[in-house]
Amino acid sequence: MISRVVDYIKNKKRGRSFGMDMHRIKRIIFMNKQKLLKPVNVMMAIDFVCLSGTAMFDDAIPKDIYGIIHPIFGYIFVLCVVFHVFLNWVWVKSNFIITKK
Ligand code: HEM
Repeated sequence: MISRVVDYIKNKKRGRSFGMDMHRIKRIIFMNKQKLLKPVNVMMAIDFVCLSGTAMFDDAIPKDIYGIIHPIFGYIFVLCVVFHVFLNWVWVKSNFIITKK
């Protein structure tokens, strides 16, 4: 599934389109929420180790390098959190959002 999206982006760059539009990409994402959750969680865990690792060793990392790599890990982490919540939205809704009967 992910390879289909990557192929689509590659072909789009080459000016070739296989007729796969944003609507179709969105549909693939919605249909594979459970499959996507695992790689997103793995990426989020690795990124969190890098994020907190850079913060823990900030004194050992030159300031100008820290100023680049730490925010990169930070923004990737924020994106992963948003995507993680989106993929778990049904669970979030059923546990936290009170609906009127
Ligand atoms: C585990 C979570 C995090 C920890 C423990 C942490 C810790 C720190 C610390 C200690 C500094 C100051 C370093 C210094 O001045 O020597 C810092 C700077 C910074 N952090 Fe984080 N941070 C975390 C998450 C994030 C996230 C999620 C973002 C972005 C969305 C972020 C963006 C930044 C930026 C932009 C700076 C300023 C970097 C600079 O010096 O130019 N951090 N962080």
